[in-house]
Amino acid sequence: MSQTLPSPSLGTPLSPLAVRVMMLGSGELGKEVIIALQQLGAEVIAVDRYDNAPGHQVAHRSHTLPMTDADALRKVIALEQPHIIVPEIEAIATDVLVEIEAVGTARVTPTARATSLTMNREGIRRLAAEQLGLPTSPYRFINSEAELLHAIDEAIGYPCVIKPVMSSSGKGQSVIHGPQDIEAAWRLAQEGGRVGGGRAIVEGFIRFEYEITLLTVRWRGADGQTHTDFCAPIGHRQVDGDYVESWQPQAMSPIALSRAQEIARAVTDELGGWGVFGVELFIAGDEVWFSEVSPRPHDTGMVTMITQEQSEFVLHARALLGLPVQVELRSPGASSVIYGGVDAQAVSFENLAQALAEPGVDLRLFGKPESFVKRRMGVALAKAEDVDTARAKARAVSMAVKVKAG
Ligand SMILES: Nc1ncnc2c1ncn2[C@@H]1O[C@H](COP(=O)(O)OP(=O)(O)O)[C@@H](O)[C@H]1O
Ligand SMILES: [Mg+2]
Repeated sequence: MSQTLPSPSLGTPLSPLAVRVMMLGSGELGKEVIIALQQLGAEVIAVDRYDNAPGHQVAHRSHTLPMTDADALRKVIALEQPHIIVPEIEAIATDVLVEIEAVGTARVTPTARATSLTMNREGIRRLAAEQLGLPTSPYRFINSEAELLHAIDEAIGYPCVIKPVMSSSGKGQSVIHGPQDIEAAWRLAQEGGRVGGGRAIVEGFIRFEYEITLLTVRWRGADGQTHTDFCAPIGHRQVDGDYVESWQPQAMSPIALSRAQEIARAVTDELGGWGVFGVELFIAGDEVWFSEVSPRPHDTGMVTMITQEQSEFVLHARALLGLPVQVELRSPGASSVIYGGVDAQAVSFENLAQALAEPGVDLRLFGKPESFVKRRMGVALAKAEDVDTARAKARAVSMAVKVKAG
């Protein structure tokens, strides 16, 4: 399938006419994309690195393998012959995707280049700041504790933030307030990287008023042209680099909103393809900084399951199939994460009837086979007349749900 083909058709799943979609990564976000694809009658193959991942439980077929292993990845693609490959996580042997896209046997969502550029902070940061000239925090890439100290002294200053170049969900990330923090921060960055040790980025600390995810969708219209649409901005709160709460819409000045959209358009135009992008931005007054971008639905965007006519998962499914989308907001709303709170296998969720008693609230329990204290096991959703009420309602739901071991 090439992106220049005429309007796509969707054939009966499990028949020779099926459109086969392979999800690489089948966590809670992948699970929702799979459900949206299933509703359109696509044939879905879910891949993850552990058995019974959330998306495995709702796909036509599933496979368990380390997706960073290029040979294992090539094998499963050769076996299943998907038409479309949809990366849901960053830890993938993206060279394999580049090969496959070049040969033209499958289309990668949104593009193989977008997937490989964004799996490493260096690729996307250099593209955004140096190639596109977008405003970002000041930054340096470093390979040692000595280089870290030098970069801070020479260019970045205190406070600053260090992150392994390959990491997500705040892993290995910390704020350095002064020279006394450097040794521990460097050690943490070495332990927290996906590939274990090595290169990191140090960034000047941005004193933003609030941060947003601007969900941006590139999709093909019936006219065959690629369009770009923006969802209403999503505000969120991060604790230790992990999202705990999000809401939509986040109020913004008209200038900040239009700058945010300009930045999102520039970066997503450059990455190309069709699909949802989560563009992360920091905002103070009318000033906007680009932080990073995911070429896929974003965890903070789970709020769209209650706020939008088409959630970010529906938007992604439709866009990646080459179908039109609509980004309208239905109601203000909020999401609040439900953590495991315990290390255990096969937990049960209790007090659900009480949690869901209020009108306008909802819940997703991801079905993860194992709980950890800080593992995201579910999400509470709420809609209301205004965002503050929705936030309070969503928090009340997530606090009411009790996770019990055994
Ligand atoms: N330069 C910075 N200045 C201030 N806060 C930052 C900076 N970089 C990251 N943060 C905070 O840490 C969070 C996680 O950082 P991010 O770069 O998005 O890492 P990840 O890829 O793990 O999501 C951000 O959402 C923001 O709250
Ligand atoms: Mg982030």
